[in-house]
Amino acid sequence: MKSFLFFHIFSSFIVLSGIKLSLAADTISPAQFIHDSEKLVSSAKRFELGFFSPGSSKNRYLGIWYRKSPEMVVWVANRNRPIIDPHGALTISNNGNLVLLDQRKGIVWSSSIYRKVKNPVAELLDSGNFILRDNLSTSSDSYLWQSFDHPSDTLLPGMKLGWDVNAGLELYLTSWRSGDDPSSGDFTFRLDIHVLPQMAIYRGSTKLARTGPWNGVYFGGTSANPNLPFVPILVHNQDKIYYRYECFNNPIIMLLKINQSGMMQRLIWKERSAGWDIVYSAPEDLCENYGRCGANGVCSIDKIPICECLKGFIPKSEQNQSSAITCVPSSSLDCTSGDRFTKLADIKLPDLLEVSLNESMNLQECENKCLKNCSCTAYANFNVTRGSGCLMWFGDLIDIRKLLETKGRQDVYIRVPASEVVLINRNETNNGFSTDPAQRPNKGNRKKLWIMVTIVTSLTMVTLGSIILYARRKLLRKGNTF
Ligand SMILES: *[C@@H]1O[C@H](CO)[C@@H](O)[C@H](O)[C@H]1NC(C)=O
Ligand SMILES: *[C@@H]1O[C@H](CO)[C@@H](O)[C@H](O)[C@H]1NC(C)=O
Ligand SMILES: *[C@@H]1O[C@H](CO)[C@@H](O)[C@H](O)[C@H]1NC(C)=O
Ligand SMILES: *[C@@H]1O[C@H](CO)[C@@H](O)[C@H](O)[C@H]1NC(C)=O
Ligand SMILES: *[C@@H]1O[C@H](CO)[C@@H](O)[C@H](O)[C@H]1NC(C)=O
Ligand SMILES: *[C@@H]1O[C@H](CO)[C@@H](O)[C@H](O)[C@H]1NC(C)=O
Ligand SMILES: *[C@@H]1O[C@H](CO)[C@@H](O)[C@H](O)[C@H]1NC(C)=O
Repeated sequence: MKSFLFFHIFSSFIVLSGIKLSLAADTISPAQFIHDSEKLVSSAKRFELGFFSPGSSKNRYLGIWYRKSPEMVVWVANRNRPIIDPHGALTISNNGNLVLLDQRKGIVWSSSIYRKVKNPVAELLDSGNFILRDNLSTSSDSYLWQSFDHPSDTLLPGMKLGWDVNAGLELYLTSWRSGDDPSSGDFTFRLDIHVLPQMAIYRGSTKLARTGPWNGVYFGGTSANPNLPFVPILVHNQDKIYYRYECFNNPIIMLLKINQSGMMQRLIWKERSAGWDIVYSAPEDLCENYGRCGANGVCSIDKIPICECLKGFIPKSEQNQSSAITCVPSSSLDCTSGDRFTKLADIKLPDLLEVSLNESMNLQECENKCLKNCSCTAYANFNVTRGSGCLMWFGDLIDIRKLLETKGRQDVYIRVPASEVVLINRNETNNGFSTDPAQRPNKGNRKKLWIMVTIVTSLTMVTLGSIILYARRKLLRKGNTF
């Protein structure tokens, strides 16, 4: 009788605390559990944390979703270790870790931190970040663990994508396997850093698509809608290089996601229709497929066929028009002082496979330096206003595309062997690129595009030089934020 009474009191306590949790709580402390039917709600009721089954699956996962849109799961704790019954529970263990337990009290997932704290509490913040901290300290520097450091397939405003250099730790997004299965899929979305940062989508270790390099304001080479209400930020300091974004006006609900088909999507919640709008997705056309036109080819989405060889290059052999072509120099690169460079304007810069960077050289010095090195195939200038900054490419040029509505014009100068120079000068409009903008056909729309591009470019190029320096130690030590 006594023990029955005790059981009764105990179970009502559980039920009561359960109700309390699902109604309002945004924190749990060591004695508390979140059972399968319970959830945490962030203080302004933006996000919820609890158990869910995706699609037609019966497996249970601990996740975070928008209260307004429970099907939009932005984080999953146990994505690769589902709980097969509705008896999972989240709590804080004796050693201060967040632990997800199955029915037999086996640990399915844990925050795996080693630092012990006296009074740990876990809190679901209105940013969508689930954090573990000491009861008494709320500063973000003192978080013991946070879900933002363990991204699933979604980048929320404020989350980081990039590198913790000291720890050798990379934060990147990994797609779900399918709509029914949040386990790690084949696709990743990450910040590539090779001399300059670029964003790229990978399937395994194969690059599927990339943006151009960060140009100081945003990633070049994309036609992203400039009117979207967010600001992209590239942060680097002593030990971190990462991308994040912030929304202009806070009530807006926006996210970035790599979906199960390997597409990167930027979504905005539309209050009126109570649904998600895809405001941008990538790759958005054939020319965005990485290396679509092969080595030394240029992709132009408005042309048929879309692939052409760079000036001074010819297709290696008879190939299907729409397939990738490999372009080889039309005559052997003899590497004489008669070699020249032809300017390719309004493009996404070639991938930064083999490049070198010198931020103090001007364009003329850059040309001379490239000319002297037989394996230098192209160069580009960074700070147009100052005419300084030298980026040189060695070997094949990969993944160049013509941009129709560029936000930031990028020009690159391609090496042309002496034996080709005469031919090229005769065929000025070959490929639609001329060696000198002044010699371009002055057709109305072309001129308009040119002016538009120039205006936008002047704005963005001014800041270009700054990123060149990002990799440089002395700047890293200063902790610049661009
Ligand atoms: C945090 O500590 C204070 C004072 O020690 C206590 O009153 C409060 O209940 C604690 N909060 C949690 C969530 O443990
Ligand atoms: C992935 O994103 C693309 C582009 O927005 C979309 O067309 C496709 O339907 C999405 N795939 C899934 C499975 O949602
Ligand atoms: C061209 O494409 C067709 C059909 O896709 C294929 O059968 C043929 O082998 C291709 N030819 C070459 C030269 O690649
Ligand atoms: C960059 O170029 C300048 C001028 O040519 C040269 O003095 C400097 O050593 C170069 N820096 C590097 C890192 O190559
Ligand atoms: C050309 O540049 C490459 C890459 O920077 C370098 O390894 C090579 O030594 C250079 N060759 C000459 C002749 O300067
Ligand atoms: C110049 O271009 C025309 C048409 O595009 C082409 O038929 C011709 O072969 C080219 N001449 C040279 C010398 O490349
Ligand atoms: C680019 O050059 C201009 C003109 O000299 C200068 O004002 C600006 O600071 C430079 N930008 C960077 C990032 O170095």
